[in-house]
Amino acid sequence: MTQAKLIDGNAFSATLRDQIAARVHEIREVNRVVPGLAVVLVGEDPASQVYVRNKNKRATECGMTSFEHVLPIDTTEKHLLNLIEGLNDDPAVHGILVQLPLPRHIDAQKVIEAIRPDKDVDGFHPWNVGKLAAGGIGLIPCTPLGSLMLLRDQLGSLSGMKAVVVGRSNIVGKPMAHLLIRENCTVTVAHSQTRDLPGEVRGADIVIAAVGKPGMIRGDWIKPGAAVIDVGINRVTLPDGKSRLVGDVAFDEAVAVAGAITPVPGGVGPMTIACLLRNTLTAAARLHCLDIPEAHPWA
Ligand code: GUN
Repeated sequence: MTQAKLIDGNAFSATLRDQIAARVHEIREVNRVVPGLAVVLVGEDPASQVYVRNKNKRATECGMTSFEHVLPIDTTEKHLLNLIEGLNDDPAVHGILVQLPLPRHIDAQKVIEAIRPDKDVDGFHPWNVGKLAAGGIGLIPCTPLGSLMLLRDQLGSLSGMKAVVVGRSNIVGKPMAHLLIRENCTVTVAHSQTRDLPGEVRGADIVIAAVGKPGMIRGDWIKPGAAVIDVGINRVTLPDGKSRLVGDVAFDEAVAVAGAITPVPGGVGPMTIACLLRNTLTAAARLHCLDIPEAHPWA
């Protein structure tokens, strides 16, 4: 039986981080600019704690300054908005990320809109959302950007291909669809109310799975030879009581049908952090009017 090519997000992201580190080193030496990333976490969600720790570790490894703000779960919205205002005005901070989800008593959209758009390294502010939708130059959400980099590396031009994005979140599904339209794909956005989901997936040369449901997309839904990007990171408990991470795609089934597929872990996950660092470098360069040759013309 043929096996799909495994798309190695660990290797690709390591190369990307090396390129970023080299450019950070250069602008530190030549321009005396040290890119700074502020990461804000409210509460003690264990998965969010791991992500935030990794973001700070990788930023420091790349030669950036990392500012970590860990706030208690009962932090008021006003307090968080005041912190963001301070970060907006701080010249040492070029990128601001507030880890989602936020506790229910805080209006996440209000918080996102409080971040200066040119420091919004998540690309979630309506200004950046609009720039992506209208084809302008803003900051692009990290997971869709990382997914696109893997696809371009694998397939070259995506022009004319049929893509299905399963999931319509603001973080992944919607920005991913806009990026793929920009690549001249014919894009379908499928979701929980889609009538014939297997049929929609079967017609696609590119499948982006971003639903947050372990193994939901089955192998016999995949068109033979398609490229499959699995954005899901789901922790499941096995019958023996141990837990492991799985994606939204039934990997063992899909790997026998697809042309190329990302594993979980080791696929899209590491790309998200690498793209966050890239966005921070981009934001720092723009804020200081420095030239940064874009590593990839599409981003
Ligand atoms: N929570 C899950 N993914 C993300 C992300 O990309 N950015 C932020 N800020 N929070 C998240």
